Amino acid sequence: MKPRIIAVVGTGGTIAGCAQNPGDALNYRAAVRPVQDLLAGLALPPGLAIEAQQLAQIDSKDVSEAHWRALLQAVQHQLERPEVRAVLVTHGTDTLEESAFLLQAVLQPTKPVLLVGAMRPSTALLSDGAQNLADALQLAATPGARGVLVPCAGQIYAGHEVRKLHPHRLDAFGAGDAGALAALVGGRLQRWRPWPGEGWSDPPPSPRLLPRLLAAAPWPRVEWLSSHGAQSGALVRALLLQHAQADGSEAPLRGLVVAGTGNATLHEALAQALQQAEQTGVVVWRCSRIGACVPAGPDAARWVLGALLGGAGEALDTGADDAADATATAPTSEGTSVAATAKAATGGFAATALPAPQARLALQLHLLATEW
Ligand code: SIN
Repeated sequence: MKPRIIAVVGTGGTIAGCAQNPGDALNYRAAVRPVQDLLAGLALPPGLAIEAQQLAQIDSKDVSEAHWRALLQAVQHQLERPEVRAVLVTHGTDTLEESAFLLQAVLQPTKPVLLVGAMRPSTALLSDGAQNLADALQLAATPGARGVLVPCAGQIYAGHEVRKLHPHRLDAFGAGDAGALAALVGGRLQRWRPWPGEGWSDPPPSPRLLPRLLAAAPWPRVEWLSSHGAQSGALVRALLLQHAQADGSEAPLRGLVVAGTGNATLHEALAQALQQAEQTGVVVWRCSRIGACVPAGPDAARWVLGALLGGAGEALDTGADDAADATATAPTSEGTSVAATAKAATGGFAATALPAPQARLALQLHLLATEW
């Protein structure tokens, strides 16, 4: 049977938002209109039909693990139906990149999964939601399209690379150095890079990961914090204290993601506190608090998803490790090896090229995949 259904899953967001005044694109309530309403009046690609379900109706800042479990399950269910050609998820833009990363990392879909948001509410004079939806429908009908894709303001981003970079511009998304995968220009698709998953050499995640994610409630607790000037490490110590006094009100702390300065370096006071955390069995990953870098090039997908598949180790080139290698036998004149300096700057913790929100999810997935 030729797949002919576009399965639409509504979750809320500004795309389903309403303002009192159509001229007001900033003051509105997100997640009001049913997803069926948003699709009314849109031209469907020939031969395709829509089936829509309202999975949630939330402002995506409030997304929970329960929502993510339901989303993973719903999307996987639709992907497994032979008659479904593509899945389209309407989503708030604030955490869209987290859901997009999760869906790509866990499901690695061979059909297109389109995550569609909007920066202006549906009632706006010039709302962007309808155009983003129209672009998504075109992608759903594009031969060969696959993987999690995010159309926004005419650009098409890969779900594992996309980041929200601006709080109110219509072209709020980007993918750093990696850039967009493709663009729709006057209805014509221009594509510069393979679809997500196309030609990737790494094996997809274990088929056991999805059942584990669906069964585990809560997922391993991973918190994220940042390195910054005048750090003291107090936040880490407070978390460890709470961990030690575990009274069952919070899940035990399993991991910490630290958004470091620059190339993922850490304030020495923070690094010391993190060593303590590691000694109590908490897994620590570093990333960078600078959001604009997404590795580009043929190995980019490996860099980005490598954290999930094999642990964070290889992903971010901090330069510090190179320095450590190069000077293992060459102490400086002060008697302190550069290796020791590098370890002080990074704490010796594994690094990932993922930004903090995605790195936090990746560490949860890694813990679930390796320590179940
Ligand atoms: C949300 O993320 O649900 C609200 C903001 C938006 O969609 O732009």
